[in-house]
Amino acid sequence: MAVAALALEDITVTFVSQDGARYTALRNTTLRIAPGEFVSVVGPTGCGKSTLLNVAVGLLQPSAGRIRVFDEPLAGLNRKAGYLFQTEALMPWRTALQNVTAGLEFRKTDPSQAARQAGNWLQRVGLGGFGERYPHQLSGGMRKRVALAQTLILDPQIILMDEPFSALDIQTRQLMENELLELWSANRKSVVFITHDLEEAISLSDRVVVLSAGPEAHPIGEFDIDLPRPRDVAEIRLAPRFIELHTLIWRAMKNEVLKSYARQQKQ
Ligand SMILES: Nc1ncnc2c1ncn2[C@@H]1O[C@H](COP(=O)(O)OP(=O)(O)O)[C@@H](O)[C@H]1O
Ligand SMILES: [Mg+2]
Repeated sequence: MAVAALALEDITVTFVSQDGARYTALRNTTLRIAPGEFVSVVGPTGCGKSTLLNVAVGLLQPSAGRIRVFDEPLAGLNRKAGYLFQTEALMPWRTALQNVTAGLEFRKTDPSQAARQAGNWLQRVGLGGFGERYPHQLSGGMRKRVALAQTLILDPQIILMDEPFSALDIQTRQLMENELLELWSANRKSVVFITHDLEEAISLSDRVVVLSAGPEAHPIGEFDIDLPRPRDVAEIRLAPRFIELHTLIWRAMKNEVLKSYARQQKQ
């Protein structure tokens, strides 16, 4: 591969609790994302997906391993990346528009220019006319759209998403997934999309990486998704090739899901 947009190499993360107990969430995990590539990471709940993303964001220092961003070692926060987390990240005291301008303010962009750009982004995510609303006056799907605009307005080269749509109902979720694909295809950035939902992973991605159940989670399979684009995430699920890929990847995942389930029962 040419220079990777993001390379996580041999990452090991061991958490040490206050009583000294050690838990190795990830062991020797390597993940490389090419410029413009859309990669999903799937794995059972609790396997270490968020941990891996936090390492990529630069919020969590791994116990071992290297992180390179466009071939530069990562030091501190990953400034080339924008993030979208599972939990709500909007500031409740700011309007939708003011939430979208937040990052630009931080970058000291001229306020009227920031407001104009934010207005454009709200349009692009289907929220033209909602700029003056506060987060509590918006639906869950609308808040996600604001968060998406808030991330994309900064034009990050790498977009890191941690189960961003998992709290949405299925229809809203599919709308958002299609919108995400449309925005992504307009100026392809590198995307790492974390999900526990295999169908979501296949329908969005160029490549799906399957993580094993923890502890010591690591990739156990990598699958190229050769489905044509543009895709409609609801329709593509009916394609015979989708079903083939789903069967293939599920075979790799199933044991890990069962292991993780059995472990949870014991707790
Ligand atoms: N700060 C932490 N301290 C101790 N253990 C942690 C910490 N963060 C995560 N873990 C553990 O690491 C494992 C992986 O967590 P996480 O990455 O959140 O999983 P996922 O996102 O795949 O559901 C879990 O067993 C979790 O309890
Ligand atoms: Mg998680």
